[in-house]
Amino acid sequence: MKIGIDNIGFYTSNLFLDMAKLAKKRNEDPNKYLIGIGQEKMAVIPKTQDIVTLGANAASQIVTDDLMDEIDLVIVGTESGMDNSKSAAAYIANLLGLKNSIRTFEIKQACYGATAGLQMAKDYIQIHPDKKALVIGADIAKYGLKTKGEPTQGGGAVAMLVSANPKLLAFDGDSTYYAEDVMDFWRPLGYSEAKVDGKFSTNVYLDFLSHVYADYQDTYGAKLTDFASFAFHLPYTKQGLKAIKFLIQNEPEEVQASYLNKFEASRKYNKIVGNLYTGSLYLSLLSLLENADFLKENDKIGLYSYGSGAQGEFFAMKLVEGFQSVLTGKTKNLLAKREEISVEEYEKIYQSTLNYRDNEVFDVTEDHARYVLAKIDDTKRIYIKQF
Ligand code: HMG
Repeated sequence: MKIGIDNIGFYTSNLFLDMAKLAKKRNEDPNKYLIGIGQEKMAVIPKTQDIVTLGANAASQIVTDDLMDEIDLVIVGTESGMDNSKSAAAYIANLLGLKNSIRTFEIKQACYGATAGLQMAKDYIQIHPDKKALVIGADIAKYGLKTKGEPTQGGGAVAMLVSANPKLLAFDGDSTYYAEDVMDFWRPLGYSEAKVDGKFSTNVYLDFLSHVYADYQDTYGAKLTDFASFAFHLPYTKQGLKAIKFLIQNEPEEVQASYLNKFEASRKYNKIVGNLYTGSLYLSLLSLLENADFLKENDKIGLYSYGSGAQGEFFAMKLVEGFQSVLTGKTKNLLAKREEISVEEYEKIYQSTLNYRDNEVFDVTEDHARYVLAKIDDTKRIYIKQF
């Protein structure tokens, strides 16, 4: 029985910042951000969106009325949780109108959370093939203003429907994984922005890739050319370029050129959204699927998931027959319709989201998303559905 991703949805806010303009304000050469970091635009998340609304807005792209009775597991992977106790999944299931005979919970392991959810959903469907699971990766990537991490911020959510006989991608065998207690990136309780040992983190990411990929090759006898293409966790897209260069380093020149060319499709969306932590790998996958003209049925895609702290995992998925019918171009439209804001407006939004008061009403008139955070009432977050 095939198990995999039946459908995939994405959501980010309607606001973005131009990276060349941010570079100028920070007295950096724009090419450092555009080429050196590999980011052209950065999603800016207003106060009316948090991981609950981002996740619900992404899920609403794929949760149709006929699925209401079939979904009985909702997992949210996030490291931007807004409550130490209640899970974002509980809110999201309610906002979507899912039934009550359902399991809802949240998973944390930095950017790896959505992969943990996806693998758990795979195992669940294996023994409950008549059910469906909703796995969401939702985050707001935040570093300090004027820090080295600033140009690698972003935010958004990816939602995946996991089922038997999926319409998009099927898991192809098992994963290889590697974990170590590493202090490369962390966010202490009470901080809304992450702390990071930046250069160190970029090396740990590649070191973990070398572990899981070598293990995958040894365990499954796999070779590079078994994969039509790859999708990587993309904290910023230059990191993915380093990853693909690592994988192809011993290949002939024409093979290297071909994989480098294919990599471009997998970073197109991430380049204009930025890091969305748990969702980044799956936005890269979506970017590849919607922008590559070379993919065909039965092609195998290699996926590398990395979450600081740290966890790495490598696995493969195969495109199923008729996969093109699932790719609607909604993400392209969503990203094309965003509004540019100035560096000053971005800094204002940044400051406003550092603290939430126990009682606060938000102006939602500028936020046209289906789900928005309308107010905080005696510490309780109140969400509304706008249409
Ligand atoms: P930095 O020190 O500002 O940048 O920090 P740099 O000086 O190293 O320059 C970056 C690149 O730009 C370099 O290229 C320069 O040569 C190049 P590289 O050596 O990397 O190939 N450059 C230029 N290129 C063209 N024209 C120019 C120019 N100037 C310089 N004029 C750093 C960069 C990524 C460290 C920083 O942004 C940071 O700390 N970011 C946050 C941490 C991060 O994203 N780490 C990634 C791995 S960890 C991970 O993926 C997990 C994570 O998503 C969290 C989670 O798991 O939850 C972060």
